[in-house]
Amino acid sequence: MTSLTSIPAALCFAKAETAIPVQVIEAAALEAWLADQPERAARWSESAGFSARLGESLLIPDEDGGLGQVLAGYGDAKARTHGRFHLAGVAAGLPEGAYRLEGLDPARRDEEALGWLLTGYAFDRYASQKRGQARLVAPEGVDAARIEAQAAGEALTRDLINTPAEDMGPDELEAACRDLAEQHGARIDVTAGEDLLEQNFPLIHTVGRAAEAVPRLIDMRWGDEGPSLCLVGKGVCFDTGGLNLKPGASMGLMKKDMGGAATVLGLARMIMALGLRLRLRVLIPAVENAVAGNAFRPGDIFTSRKGLTVEINNTDAEGRLVLADALALGAEETPDLMISMATLTGAARVAVGPDLAPYYTDHEGDAQALAGAAARVADPVWRLPFHQPYEAMIEPGIADLDNAPKGGFAGSITAALFLRRFAGETRYMHFDIYGWCPSAAPARPKGGVGMGARALLEALPEMLRL
Ligand code: BES
Ligand code: MN
Ligand code: ZN
Repeated sequence: MTSLTSIPAALCFAKAETAIPVQVIEAAALEAWLADQPERAARWSESAGFSARLGESLLIPDEDGGLGQVLAGYGDAKARTHGRFHLAGVAAGLPEGAYRLEGLDPARRDEEALGWLLTGYAFDRYASQKRGQARLVAPEGVDAARIEAQAAGEALTRDLINTPAEDMGPDELEAACRDLAEQHGARIDVTAGEDLLEQNFPLIHTVGRAAEAVPRLIDMRWGDEGPSLCLVGKGVCFDTGGLNLKPGASMGLMKKDMGGAATVLGLARMIMALGLRLRLRVLIPAVENAVAGNAFRPGDIFTSRKGLTVEINNTDAEGRLVLADALALGAEETPDLMISMATLTGAARVAVGPDLAPYYTDHEGDAQALAGAAARVADPVWRLPFHQPYEAMIEPGIADLDNAPKGGFAGSITAALFLRRFAGETRYMHFDIYGWCPSAAPARPKGGVGMGARALLEALPEMLRL
């Protein structure tokens, strides 16, 4: 098997000399365009009923019966607000070969080029039939290396999430991190098992102690100049809920509970591949929230790395526990910015659904930078508040903090407030992501998906003055 971190050619631009033109046509421009075409092509388009609707495509033969060109309907601006990566839908239906884009608005080139590359993503590790691919020659004017880095980062995220827990437990997640570190000359340090107690990561150990694969904290560093950025990702490789066992329907998708780790690793890959001038640290608490005789229990109280005590009122609120110790470690060296990503609450999914990445920050400048960036790179995000008055909800009385406030009001916000306690004075942003695309859309097959990583990549220069 090829390594998870190797990049398939299908995710890179084609280097072909000759490529079949894909003519991108807005509905309103079709008539004028056809008037300029050879009689044959115009008649073929008319008889096929091509109307340049968004996502519609038409193959046009050349004189010898080969594929001469492709028409790609691009609808109008209003239709295009209903989704992203519109040409990816066309690309996915084309025969194998090399293609080039014509007539595309330069302002949309980056998004469409990335979408096309992402149609080259398939989770085929367990498939006996691999499929062929329509490849795109890099459109003139795009930063090909940047788009390829984004596609490769996203593909890593998806592979990590899609791989079932049996093959993506804490051991394999660590191995993937080591691979990635080796590829980019990053340093990596892992604290595992009983060493977690010795090195004072009690909550990571507590959550992971019932699983066969030992819990661990993965600590990767890259770059030695520029501002410091610490990314923290929830690496719960499977979440049964622990003794507060999840019902079957809720447990079904929980291989994706390391989606935060997968997404920060995807972002880290983009940052390293592009050589951003910053000092990067990635912290991943990697555990499995399992059930066994030695599992932690409701009612238990533990002292965290930071010294705050936490009462466990639900063993299924495990993500904030492992993140608490990782965030405390990250905050100890006060990086210029710390960002956590986690499939943290069902409440976030209920609030914004699977398409938006909800995030929290107290820094207005960061929120503005991120909103602008998200719109530019078609990676939508939505800000939720660190609402101070709800702090009272995470204080149970007999300990400093409650991991699962009763009542369930504002579940994503109270989880975010819980995490913020551990970030201390560090400038902090947190994403409560879903990490999964429930139904296939262009360039976004059903399955694991990165959220917020490209928006962050785009926003980082402004946030950190790179
Ligand atoms: N991993 C889940 C959250 C989750 C569930 C994310 C479904 C996406 C889809 C998390 O560990 C969890 O179980 N959270 C609980 C917290 C509650 C017990 C306070 C939740 O959201 O129900
Ligand atoms: Mn849980
Ligand atoms: Zn979880």
